[in-house]
Amino acid sequence: MSIITPFQALACPLDGEPLALTGSVWRCAAGHSFDIAKQGYVNLLPVQHKRSHDPGDSKAMVAARQRFLGAGYYQPIADAVSDAVFSHAGSQHPTNEPLSCLDAGCGEGYYLRQLAHAGQLANAAPNSLPLSLIGLDISKWAVLAAAKQDNKQAPLSSWVVGSNAHIPVQTETLDSVLCMFGFPVLIEFARVLRTGGLLLQVEAGPNHLRELREVIYPTLKPERSTETEVLEGFIHHSSERVSYPLALNGSDAIADLLAMTPHLYRASAEGRARAAALEMLSVTVDARIVIYTRI
Ligand SMILES: C[S@@+](CC[C@H](N)C(=O)[O-])C[C@H]1O[C@@H](n2cnc3c(N)ncnc32)[C@H](O)[C@@H]1O
Ligand SMILES: [Zn+2]
Repeated sequence: MSIITPFQALACPLDGEPLALTGSVWRCAAGHSFDIAKQGYVNLLPVQHKRSHDPGDSKAMVAARQRFLGAGYYQPIADAVSDAVFSHAGSQHPTNEPLSCLDAGCGEGYYLRQLAHAGQLANAAPNSLPLSLIGLDISKWAVLAAAKQDNKQAPLSSWVVGSNAHIPVQTETLDSVLCMFGFPVLIEFARVLRTGGLLLQVEAGPNHLRELREVIYPTLKPERSTETEVLEGFIHHSSERVSYPLALNGSDAIADLLAMTPHLYRASAEGRARAAALEMLSVTVDARIVIYTRI
């Protein structure tokens, strides 16, 4: 069973200097200070890095994702990601130091909680590496929901409002970065990862939610290429496909799924109405996990 602690090598979002924690305040050498809110998260998103007043997922989208993921519908994806973090990141890692992991665009924290849970099961992490976790999201609603689900006395993770475009983390301090159905900023991922660290990108494969898309769109767009991209500063490590059928019973689960995807905004009112009229839907989950190594 591994020890799990919040990741601490944070950086000031204004000047990039290390932040030190005194009481419940993170402070840099220049005196910029950031309070940990009573719910247990810190806001490191300066107003000049905000593109809107309330950036990222809305409160309603976060709540829909929390209900949907909490029902376990994407558990096989979480299991595959946790396995990959332990088996690949662990193999490169100096012993005794915690395995640090950032979820960049963590939403309400489901995948980090699942990773922590996997780490707590002795057989999933046979070498019992301690874990040090950080969840970052630009949506204050997402980070608030994540912090609220953590244990205030013994938190599993640091929860930070911030942007992937300016990750408030010190350079070369992370062993792995997860970017799950999110907004990758590769230059920042490369900066915060140590040499040999892993980037795990999870994205929709060609058949992902095909049946839902068939309901909401008149015609389906041609598939995007699933060729692995060449990313500067990284080499491709491995790729994996997680694909399975999922039966959704009841209009609430279908509405939650629609609300947590970009299809909510892309679909026409008629398309959304057709989805809202469904009482059950069998959908294909098709996720691609592409793993890169920082060189
Ligand atoms: C499709 S959701 C995925 C959330 C989570 N990774 C999951 O799979 O459950 C995308 C998330 O990225 C966040 N986001 C959008 N732009 C961001 C940025 N520039 N930096 C960090 N997070 C961002 C949104 O607020 C939202 O929570
Ligand atoms: Zn500062």
